[in-house]
Amino acid sequence: MNSPFSRLSTRAAYGATQLPRIAWYLGQGIARDRMVQRAREKGSARPRPQTDAPVPSRKRLFEDIAALLKQDLANVEAGLYPMPADHDGSFATMIQRSRAFFQDLPAIHRRRESGDHNEVLTEEMRGKRPLYYLQNFHFQSGGWMTEDSARLYDTQVETLFYGSANVMRRQALPPLHEIFAGRDQRRLSLLDIGCGTGRFLDCVKQAWPRLPAIGLDLSEPYVEEARRHLARWSGIGLMVANAESIPLPDESQDAVTCVFLFHELPPKVRRIALAEFARVLKPGGRLVLVDSIQRGDQPDYDGLLELFPQSFHEPYYLSYIDEDFAALGEACGLAHVRDERAYVSKVMVFDKPS
Ligand SMILES: C[S@@+](CC[C@H](N)C(=O)[O-])C[C@H]1O[C@@H](n2cnc3c(N)ncnc32)[C@H](O)[C@@H]1O
Repeated sequence: MNSPFSRLSTRAAYGATQLPRIAWYLGQGIARDRMVQRAREKGSARPRPQTDAPVPSRKRLFEDIAALLKQDLANVEAGLYPMPADHDGSFATMIQRSRAFFQDLPAIHRRRESGDHNEVLTEEMRGKRPLYYLQNFHFQSGGWMTEDSARLYDTQVETLFYGSANVMRRQALPPLHEIFAGRDQRRLSLLDIGCGTGRFLDCVKQAWPRLPAIGLDLSEPYVEEARRHLARWSGIGLMVANAESIPLPDESQDAVTCVFLFHELPPKVRRIALAEFARVLKPGGRLVLVDSIQRGDQPDYDGLLELFPQSFHEPYYLSYIDEDFAALGEACGLAHVRDERAYVSKVMVFDKPS
């Protein structure tokens, strides 16, 4: 049982690291929102994003971020994972990334205005990656294909979520704790699909430093960025590969995780990828997906879900928010255990029967 003193010091330590971090990204997020608004008011050829469904106020968003942080702290206090370290880099690095983020906004705005989302579909790239992948998702510069994009990504995502992206990712750890507790972590295995710059694997290694883990992503520059970010850890393998054909044996993984990928896959590919995840899971293994909430999960957010793909290039998002993941899992032999909401994300848990 934690003493009142140790509980107080945990809360003080949590507040001292997480609150300034939220303030940092929230400030940039609000500044970005204002710049986009101003650019639109100056004259935009595009129709204004529209929805008839309810949209949460900013106050409501802040309350829900506060609830997410409370849950994160409760998980730390319950011993489900240690006090988080977000590893955003030194203050100088954060300033540098922030500057690069704001310098890139006009290019994103230009793409949003012109609707141009095919810059990465060059003759050189055609055939080297699936067509659905060769797009400027979110109108980002370089798509998934450049070092600059990989370096900007984490600031873009944290700013979009007002500093809560890592907190949402960490909500995948409690369902992993359920199946890892009491077992020798050195004998387990975890595969993170679409690992991007490795932020979720960093959370995993903080909780289970000796757990052998693999990160897989289709982007070379993102895997390189993950390699840099995860250099402090041992026991991590990183590979450039497609979630549709995972180069690992059947029934080789105790856990498969996948964070913020499924909303970017076409419906057909979602099914192929999920079947691959089921194939590489050991019987008794667990799949944890973290992705956007879906229509109806939080009815007063439904309008926000409709607005999102009108401002960011997200060609598969509208089909994603109506996808029945429990049924998809079942079709691959995975039992749907539960969903848990984490602000604008949800954690979906599936088990492969023993
Ligand atoms: C929105 S990012 C999410 C990255 C990371 N999981 C996170 O938490 O931020 C989507 C990632 O999935 C990768 N990706 C997209 N399609 C893929 C596929 N078919 N196979 C493997 N990776 C893919 C992209 O390269 C990108 O790094």
